[in-house]
Amino acid sequence: MNHTPTTVNSYNEWDPLEEVIVGVVEGSTIPQWHVTLEATMPKKYWSLFRQKGGKLFPEGQITAAKKELDEFCRLLESEGVTVRRPDTIPFNKPYSSPEWTSHGGLYAAMPRDILLVIGNEIIESPMAWRSRYFEIEAYRSLLKDYFAKGAKWSSAPKPLLGGKLYNDAYGKNQTQDKLEYAITEHEPVFDAADFIRCGRDIFVQQSNVTNQLGIEWLQRHLGSTYRIHTLKFEDKHPMHIDATFMPLAPGKLLINPERVGQIPSMFKGWDILTAPRPSIPGEHPLYFTSKWVSINVLMLDEERVIVEKNELPLIHSFKSWGFKVIPCSFRNFNTFGGSFHCATVDIRRRGTLQSYFD
Ligand code: ALA
Repeated sequence: MNHTPTTVNSYNEWDPLEEVIVGVVEGSTIPQWHVTLEATMPKKYWSLFRQKGGKLFPEGQITAAKKELDEFCRLLESEGVTVRRPDTIPFNKPYSSPEWTSHGGLYAAMPRDILLVIGNEIIESPMAWRSRYFEIEAYRSLLKDYFAKGAKWSSAPKPLLGGKLYNDAYGKNQTQDKLEYAITEHEPVFDAADFIRCGRDIFVQQSNVTNQLGIEWLQRHLGSTYRIHTLKFEDKHPMHIDATFMPLAPGKLLINPERVGQIPSMFKGWDILTAPRPSIPGEHPLYFTSKWVSINVLMLDEERVIVEKNELPLIHSFKSWGFKVIPCSFRNFNTFGGSFHCATVDIRRRGTLQSYFD
């Protein structure tokens, strides 16, 4: 009989999923303009962030996304997965530190950004956006519950997000050869979504929200049981690895062909699954991402994959690669900056710590 050691247990992206947190979209607030947004967000929406930071996103868009999220939760439950949700809290309230102010927060729609689950441990990420400083509040009741049930609960050093963390000259000296980031190495910061887990090996990209100090902090925190590998992609605006490089199962790596050139040598012998171009229509609003949010899929086990219902070329590819596709509507949720992988964080997958690269 399979035995799950604790309530929180997840080492990779593909062991059979038993429990998951799915985000909520109520209260989603337009983030205040900042250099970290300039480095990562679609230009088309810069004026919205500049003019309306701190105000709620349009009600109709929130309602449409909520409907899809709720449907996604029912789908997960029908596949035997326990679903937990964060608290619904208002994010359109201003706050300050001694050094800076924010017109408001963002949302609790993307648990993958803020929580990193490694084995029986849940780590709160030290996120670089000032608008995400208090986001953790929405998850605290769940975290206390998981702690009561035996999880290890940690938080990276609390970042101060003062002026020295940001590169105000961002964009002014950018050359073709050298990638510039909107953040400096002033203090450790990272978003959990820049990491992707394959048992003892964890892959990360340095990005506009994850610096080398943040990566080093995590490596020392986890110790020698885990090896963190920093990968470089052809992405001028990096933020979150999960629309670029997605190990889906042992021996199966999904890649974004526009960003992944050289396949890291560790993946020699793996099937490289090259994602087809996204089919999201040009006029569909995507405030926070490129259309490659299309490949932000969720594995229920090594075979079953949840894919956006309208991504027909991707669905076709998955079938030809031997996966069982579970389609789900998520376009209106995509508007808020993620798809099934971003909208979730695995709490428990049935499996143990293994090495997939020896
Ligand atoms: N930053 C990633 C993209 O926009 C999610 O594709």
